Amino acid sequence: MDLNRIKQLSGEYKRENGLSLATRAVHADANVDSHSAVAPALHTSTTYRFADDPEELVPFKDLDPERALGSHAYVRYTSPNMVRFEAVLTSILGGPALTYSSGLAAFHAILVLLNPRRIAIGGGYHGCHGVIKMVSRMTGLETLPLDCDASQLQPGDIIHVETPLNPTGEAINLQHYADKAHKAGAFLTIDATFGPPPLQNPFGFGADIVLHSGTKYFGGHSDMLCGILAVNPKHDFLLKLHSDRVYLGSVEGNMESWLGMRSLRTLELRVTRQSATATALVTWLHNQLQDSSTAAHRVVEQVHHASLQAEATKEDSWLRKQMPNGYGPIFSITLKDANLAKRLPSKLRLFQHATSLGGVESLIEWRAMTNTSIDQRLVRLSIGVEALEDLTWDLQQGLEALGKETLPEKQYSDTI
Ligand SMILES: Cc1ncc(COP(=O)(O)O)c(C=O)c1O
Repeated sequence: MDLNRIKQLSGEYKRENGLSLATRAVHADANVDSHSAVAPALHTSTTYRFADDPEELVPFKDLDPERALGSHAYVRYTSPNMVRFEAVLTSILGGPALTYSSGLAAFHAILVLLNPRRIAIGGGYHGCHGVIKMVSRMTGLETLPLDCDASQLQPGDIIHVETPLNPTGEAINLQHYADKAHKAGAFLTIDATFGPPPLQNPFGFGADIVLHSGTKYFGGHSDMLCGILAVNPKHDFLLKLHSDRVYLGSVEGNMESWLGMRSLRTLELRVTRQSATATALVTWLHNQLQDSSTAAHRVVEQVHHASLQAEATKEDSWLRKQMPNGYGPIFSITLKDANLAKRLPSKLRLFQHATSLGGVESLIEWRAMTNTSIDQRLVRLSIGVEALEDLTWDLQQGLEALGKETLPEKQYSDTI
């Protein structure tokens, strides 16, 4: 089975059956399923037998690249679990998809593919800035601010937008940057890690390539490292990306591809619940801040999330159109001072103090632990699949415990 055939089948599956994303996440690999087992098998082999018939033997270097993609020979080229995982990803992301050993490996693959002279980029995940710095050592790649003057961009450059943004969970208007990039002949690449399907479809707003750290929501269980690129079907980038991946060696491992398939089946269930719970928690916290008698009012300065952006209240706004199925399951809180931010995680019973996000477990991170350039008063929350009432209870008791520490006991009970 070659990759283009898989791409075609995944697309046909969507069109002919008009199936929803939740259903495609369970069935879009049906055409690459060669066994009667209902659950996908785990193939750990790194190498695959050549044809038994000597007349059919073709040296690997002479294979038609499209055939080579389907006739497994060596795991750095293709493997059964990877191809199956990518068939479902292609269907649910709306463009041919490839997997990588990590999100940053996928970002690196974009830079190798497009080899831009300039990249316009804002804040967001600091690791992507690390990759840019490394690539600029080799190619002289120049970094421009996201809102640079359009005249600074040339054909072949990149505007790279992360939305929603790490760590605040606030969204950025994709169509605005798509228009700016395309006018200059540049590409728009999107890091959509914080807004996985079904929350947004960046191809609907002009994205040329969409990146996900699959380590987060696609994996969903905090147990696999993974990167994903999906290409706008109008571009013919797939075979080049695949060939680059073979030589960069940044391929997804067998075990991770298998875990990825296991996780995709429940992606829609998990993400819609995580999104709804996060948005409800943000609303609750925001309301607490308006009430001077609450613990939140004492210790929290501000809550950050797309649902609190002004455009969220406007029916016809770019934000409502871009995220029609809910906002991201990540939000941030700025505490009144850095010491409070450092101490809040230790007060919580259900939220675990750890970096990363997107798993079934709710996490909180004093962000200064992994990003020294960030506001020291900021904590990031990744909402898992626990019940809303339990997470609300945990935050409430944690904020109260923190509030008590900021005042002597008597004064505290007088104010709360
Ligand atoms: C927005 C964003 N993009 C990319 C990455 C990098 O992903 P990975 O850790 O899978 O390399 C991360 C990791 O946290 C991220 O948050």
